[in-house]
Amino acid sequence: MALLTVENLHVSYGGVTAVRGLSLSVNEGEVVSILGPNGAGKSSTLAVIAGGVAPRAGRVTYAGQDITGGRAEEIARSGISLVPEGRHVFATLTVEENLAVGTYMHKGKADIAGVLERFPRLKERRDFPAGRLSGGEQQMLVIARAMLAKPKLMLVDEPSLGLAPLIIDQVYDILLDLRRQGMSLLIVEQSTSRILKHADRIYVLRGGAVQLEDTAANLRDGEAIKRAYFGFDEGAA
Ligand SMILES: Nc1ncnc2c1ncn2[C@@H]1O[C@H](COP(=O)(O)OP(=O)(O)OP(=O)(O)O)[C@@H](O)[C@H]1O
Ligand SMILES: [Mg+2]
Repeated sequence: MALLTVENLHVSYGGVTAVRGLSLSVNEGEVVSILGPNGAGKSSTLAVIAGGVAPRAGRVTYAGQDITGGRAEEIARSGISLVPEGRHVFATLTVEENLAVGTYMHKGKADIAGVLERFPRLKERRDFPAGRLSGGEQQMLVIARAMLAKPKLMLVDEPSLGLAPLIIDQVYDILLDLRRQGMSLLIVEQSTSRILKHADRIYVLRGGAVQLEDTAANLRDGEAIKRAYFGFDEGAA
């Protein structure tokens, strides 16, 4: 059953059209990935789902409810967490304080200690300023912060950007562990090889529209993805 459905989404910023007629779905328990070059509309799509940006047209349905244009806090409370691009942490606050900031909207229900149990490295460093963590640790911290809301669906924007391969593996270990515990994931990526290994289904976006969608199994050799990603003409070059 579809947990999330996005239908015919259009997003514009002033005169700039970022998304034109995009549709996608995430089923319960699935890991779905959005791939695509810079400016394809990947982050804009996640922003609309999470309530950070109002779409010009289209519909977002989550667990049977129309959440299009809903407020970010309400959408978060209904079970969708966004891990935004860029690993924004409060550099001068400690790891634990960063998590505490993430709990303000859960009215004290958030379980910081419980979340830290899943992240031994963060637990060890709970009193460190977040600005002194490595890139990988900061990525773990923003994922941990998103988990405080106990989401059913996590939207993760480019978790591997700028990280070393070994660290990317650690980040994916965490994401796959969440999946094993029943979470559904929509992951924006630029690294095709990781996602081919870990996603159930893949959408390739370019120019704000879906160019290709299929199961990861069908796309395994990466050729169709490359063509969709770069456009058919350039793909032949
Ligand atoms: N706040 C904004 N104001 C104006 N234009 C924007 C804004 N955010 C995004 N855009 C434009 O919308 C288009 C899609 O941007 P978006 O960030 O969704 O792409 P993306 O696929 O996430 O790219 P990247 O891989 O670089 O993160 C781009 O042309 C971008 O310049
Ligand atoms: Mg982006």
